[in-house]
Amino acid sequence: MTSITTLLLPAVSQSGTRPTECEPRSNPIAQLNDCDLAVAIDVLRATSVIVKALASGAESVMTCETIEQAHRLAESEPDRTLLCGERNCQKVDGFALGNSPSEYTSENVHGKRLVLTTTNGTKAIEMASPVPSLAIASFLNLSAVISRILRARHTCIICAGTNGVITSEDVLLAGALVTGIKNVCKAAQFDDASEISASFWESSMNLDPKDSDQSIALQLADRLQRTEGGRNLIGVGYENDLLACSQINSLPILPMRKAVSPSCFELDDSAR
Ligand code: MLT
Repeated sequence: MTSITTLLLPAVSQSGTRPTECEPRSNPIAQLNDCDLAVAIDVLRATSVIVKALASGAESVMTCETIEQAHRLAESEPDRTLLCGERNCQKVDGFALGNSPSEYTSENVHGKRLVLTTTNGTKAIEMASPVPSLAIASFLNLSAVISRILRARHTCIICAGTNGVITSEDVLLAGALVTGIKNVCKAAQFDDASEISASFWESSMNLDPKDSDQSIALQLADRLQRTEGGRNLIGVGYENDLLACSQINSLPILPMRKAVSPSCFELDDSAR
């Protein structure tokens, strides 16, 4: 039996710490303790970038919350490590790459070890530390993530949001995942946040079963313009990233966490 819980924000627990066994079941964060799989979502743009980087041949992507941690993580193998990430949507001074999928070409990242820090996405990843397995989700690898969720007992989908606020681009992807699970697994169980996400996805998109992934991508890019993350990116000149992050199922790979503290992602072995 598959069951899905969705956290619309990567809030910390009421005590301000990571969830612990003794926290009440009613605290949604404590539900992470019951999960065998977490799925991290930051559509615009951290998780889309991780998918693009590994699809372009990066060896691994290590994630961390601060710029200082990123510099420390790069120290061990400076020659083949790229510092990557953003603050206020812009590349961090002195870093090799920012947070635009367009930068993560094979030419730039093939064979490299990446260290990535972003404002919100890498926090959602850290929140999933207690969960045994963590997959990275974007629209680019939607079906690959759905297949992985179907093999799990209890999945927690974690939406990154922006600076503590729910963002609709992340809820749209959570809803697309939940809708995809519903389509193939009638017995799956969903909490209310998952149901709300699915309703939001279905009502936001005018989908026909005959639509190609390409036509869904165009419609989705248009929809992303009316999201918090979309407006922020348009405001700083990254509107092309909305279409880049909307390319449904264009990169059918699955980044899985291979190490915790720091979190380090590689392609899932079965996807190599
Ligand atoms: C984040 O982690 O907040 C985002 O990925 C921001 C961005 O795309 O610039």
